[in-house]
Amino acid sequence: MKKYRVGILGATGAVGREMLKILEEYDFPLAELRLLASKRSVGKTIEFKGENYSIEEATKTSFKGLDFVLGAASNEIAKAFSEDIVQSGAIFIDNSSAFRMKDTVPLVVPEINGEDVFSNQGIIANPNCSTIIALMAIQAIHKLSLIESMVVSTYQATSGAGAQGPIELRNQMEAICKNESIEPFVFQHQIVENVIPHIGSFLENGYTTEEMKMQNEGRKILHHPTLKVSCTCVRVPVVRSHSISIDLVTEKHLDLNVVKEAISKEKGCRLYDGPMENVYPMPIVTSNQDLVYVGRIRKSLIHENGISLWCSGDQIRKGAATNAVQIMMKLIGLEI
Ligand SMILES: NC(=O)c1ccc[n+]([C@@H]2O[C@H](COP(=O)([O-])OP(=O)(O)OC[C@H]3O[C@@H](n4cnc5c(N)ncnc54)[C@H](OP(=O)(O)O)[C@@H]3O)[C@@H](O)[C@H]2O)c1
Repeated sequence: MKKYRVGILGATGAVGREMLKILEEYDFPLAELRLLASKRSVGKTIEFKGENYSIEEATKTSFKGLDFVLGAASNEIAKAFSEDIVQSGAIFIDNSSAFRMKDTVPLVVPEINGEDVFSNQGIIANPNCSTIIALMAIQAIHKLSLIESMVVSTYQATSGAGAQGPIELRNQMEAICKNESIEPFVFQHQIVENVIPHIGSFLENGYTTEEMKMQNEGRKILHHPTLKVSCTCVRVPVVRSHSISIDLVTEKHLDLNVVKEAISKEKGCRLYDGPMENVYPMPIVTSNQDLVYVGRIRKSLIHENGISLWCSGDQIRKGAATNAVQIMMKLIGLEI
């Protein structure tokens, strides 16, 4: 089997470290693994398959000879290195939002629009984590009937803000137990014993940049330019796994049993819907695995063709690292 030379840009962060786990779990055929981060991380090592790999500082020449670069750094870093990566001949699969809405850049969830990877011109974007989880949950319904609109509320874990997010949550948990004062650094407000309806920056329309991703990225991934989404994104004091409430309206009237059956058969999804037995998706159930769990499926009390549901998924895995590795696998013809 052919082996590939892979670099991770941002290998020390929440997403980068998870990418390493996924490459190991999926036994990805590696000829070389290059771990890149900032100058601060030079001298550190990370273990992969029992071997210690040194972190190298990412520079313009770091990408020479690589087949793929998995991007797990900020928009600024992705923009700073994208030309060097593409010129080196590697394909850049980027987790930041720097290139997601560019016409020349495919934005891909492999189970939904996997074939789009083949139209890349050197860069492929990984969608926003909440967008991936929401679309995975509704994909089966969208195949039964076009989804016209969705009202979405997200409950996003602290690790969605990077490796420092859960550290801030834990520090504040300790501080609150000791009756010490709390000063937020990562989040706008205290996150322990709180929820914060503010992720991203506010736009003129009153929504945030994070909230608009659900509609803008959703339209591109589903090839559905008229999809309407009203989204509220909320940070919650959870370590890992985003949860999402979705009220959607379909073009055709759908039978609820048909909907549940379709979700149960959808690749990458798990129907987890037994409310009478207290069975519904929750972060403690969905963390550290790749499936998006879907439950609380019921008819809307407002719209004739409306369905309400609740889903949870590990946003560092399927919402980021796993999806990026799956894109790479799709490109080289490996089963995802
Ligand atoms: N966390 C999530 O759930 C999630 C989900 C979907 C998408 N994303 C996106 O994925 C990207 C990474 O997020 P994250 O949560 O993993 O962030 P993170 O934990 O803060 O990690 C950031 C990474 O970027 C590296 N970095 C910083 N400055 C650098 C530089 N000058 N040169 C090279 N590398 C540099 C850091 O290295 P040092 O350790 O050396 O500073 C670290 O490895 C972001 O664009 C984020 O929006 C995150």
